[in-house]
Amino acid sequence: MNERSRIHAEEVYVLKIGGSVLTEKGKERTARKDAIKRISKEIALATLHTARKKLILVHGAGSYGHPQAKVYQESGEVEDALVTHESAKELNRLVVSSLMELGLKAMPIHPLSGVVSKGGRIKYKIKEQIELALEAGIVPVLHGDVIMDEKEGFRILSGDQLVVYAAKEFKASRVGVGTDVDGVLDDEGEVIRKITPVDVDKMSIKGSEHVDVTGGMKEKVHLLAKLASENNIPSVLFNASRESNVYKFLTDDENLFGTVISA
Ligand SMILES: Nc1ncnc2c1ncn2[C@@H]1O[C@H](COP(=O)(O)OP(=O)(O)O)[C@@H](O)[C@H]1O
Ligand SMILES: [Mg+2]
Repeated sequence: MNERSRIHAEEVYVLKIGGSVLTEKGKERTARKDAIKRISKEIALATLHTARKKLILVHGAGSYGHPQAKVYQESGEVEDALVTHESAKELNRLVVSSLMELGLKAMPIHPLSGVVSKGGRIKYKIKEQIELALEAGIVPVLHGDVIMDEKEGFRILSGDQLVVYAAKEFKASRVGVGTDVDGVLDDEGEVIRKITPVDVDKMSIKGSEHVDVTGGMKEKVHLLAKLASENNIPSVLFNASRESNVYKFLTDDENLFGTVISA
């Protein structure tokens, strides 16, 4: 038996907490420390109930990444890409330390150090690190970042793209994406409880209210719909700014309110 098969697919959960939850997206480099703490607690508490499960945590960059990445997009200067990375790492550090303070084993994985692209085609080199972390009972914590491209300087890799990667690579049994809204909203502002990939083309979802260089809700829904149609992996979009939703997601609570995206 291959050593790697020790990680059983059914056990892997992928959870993304959006930058809209962890930071004030309208205020550069401003963390919502209370939200980071509350979510860390919910993760710690839920982990006690689901000791068998493996968790890959991804977070967005929020105001620690989007405004900085926008500067880079406009200038094309290497320095600006590096500033974006430094800043995203700062938020990652807050998240990882908050988990560690609660006794969880958490480990940062910075995409810049392990993902490259070639003309936009992304090559992930972080699989083994994630795998070894999961085997060792560590929560790997990935984040939206800039990555180096073999042809054209730096590119932006979103937390949402990382969710899709991790879910596919580890055949996640549960994928949750937390933002600051209750789910995908229709034109009347009502939450759409279920979306299938065929619905997505007909929908008119907008981007983010704030600077979001990675396409906001629209791109998120497209990526998750593709994950559902091509890999048959469903996901749930929920409000992680509301207390106990992260806990509900991690403990398979049926009362978790949100939008399910499935084939
Ligand atoms: N139809 C929609 N349903 C829900 N949110 C939407 C919709 N259209 C635009 N949005 C915006 O998308 C935002 C969430 O996306 P985004 O800012 O990228 O979150 P994150 O920082 O978590 O990645 C919401 O705060 C909301 O302002
Ligand atoms: Mg976003």
